[in-house]
Amino acid sequence: MQHRRLSGHGPHVSEIGFGGWAIGGGWGEQQDADSVAALHAALDGGVNLIDTAEGYGDGRSEQLIAEVLRDRDEDVFVATKTPPDAGPWPPSPHCRWQDRYSAAYLRANVEQRLQNLNTDRIDLLQLHTWTRAWNDDPQPLLVLRQLREEGKINLIGVSTPEHDQACVIQLMRDGLVDVVQIIFNLFHQEPIAQLLPVAAETGTGVIVRVALDEGALTGKFSPEHRFPESDFRSQYFEGDRMARTVSRVESIRSDLEDFGLADQYSLVDLSLKFALSRPEVSTVIAGMRNEEQAMMNTRTARLRDLPDELIQRLHRHNWLRGVWYSGK
Ligand SMILES: NC(=O)c1ccc[n+]([C@@H]2O[C@H](COP(=O)([O-])OP(=O)(O)OC[C@H]3O[C@@H](n4cnc5c(N)ncnc54)[C@H](OP(=O)(O)O)[C@@H]3O)[C@@H](O)[C@H]2O)c1
Repeated sequence: MQHRRLSGHGPHVSEIGFGGWAIGGGWGEQQDADSVAALHAALDGGVNLIDTAEGYGDGRSEQLIAEVLRDRDEDVFVATKTPPDAGPWPPSPHCRWQDRYSAAYLRANVEQRLQNLNTDRIDLLQLHTWTRAWNDDPQPLLVLRQLREEGKINLIGVSTPEHDQACVIQLMRDGLVDVVQIIFNLFHQEPIAQLLPVAAETGTGVIVRVALDEGALTGKFSPEHRFPESDFRSQYFEGDRMARTVSRVESIRSDLEDFGLADQYSLVDLSLKFALSRPEVSTVIAGMRNEEQAMMNTRTARLRDLPDELIQRLHRHNWLRGVWYSGK
């Protein structure tokens, strides 16, 4: 497993990190035994960064991670997230930070995160979402800075709202965040325009999420695939979205075949390696819900980098499909 620096002053983290959403719930049926096996297999494969959040099963993902880490000897970097207080998701331009991320709310929430993770200091605390409405008066981030001075948090981050990822550019330039968590994948290449260059310029760490487009970029789904209602993807891929996605995934597969590389890289490898092809990216947190997926995803980090000509070809798969998380 290769390592990269998480921000100019952060630790060295594994190129592949563990995405801890599905093990908390919301992705259809999930057995704890599979989640625990996935975590152990990922750590055995060299993963040393795990991403989680309160929102992943109301703390269940955090608790499972803490249980597994209690049995392990290695140093593992755990990033978690505090969601905004009750209100619209993502926060609307009319939301006030005083109602969503007040100092009292943030302090109480961080105590819960510490308890769930069974630790006295959080390696990275990310605000789970944000709005540029708060950019010019970013008080919540100053509260986190205070919590850092008190020794409760090490690094500070913001996870981008899907519809306006570029809103964190000002926060990076203002030196308010150590790390940003962003969507960057074969379909969603917009961060190349400015977000990634500004991360390099400011020494901000970049955690890439959804590199597999919620599983679709693995190439395993048919156009007719349907998810159970208990899986959030029943909305994410509702209507004709899965069919449209699969046809684009097949076009990506053709590119891999044209380059004669289909026997060396699976679509999972290609997707993870594409995200890692940018040096500004510190780690790619692939979601993993069982041992087999953890073994496949960690193996990717041992493969050679993709040829430049192939990366150039893959640029054509940038897809301006709008914001699916917000519904039709
Ligand atoms: N707003 C935010 O801050 C935010 C939002 C989203 C995600 N995240 C973070 O980013 C992480 C990664 O994103 P994600 O988990 O949503 O999506 P993802 O990494 O694009 O996709 C993960 C899903 O793909 C499938 N999969 C993974 N590896 C596979 C393999 N080798 N072969 C076949 N299928 C495989 C699994 O689901 P199935 O087996 O069920 O298909 C898995 O749950 C999350 O876990 C979470 O930590 C943060």
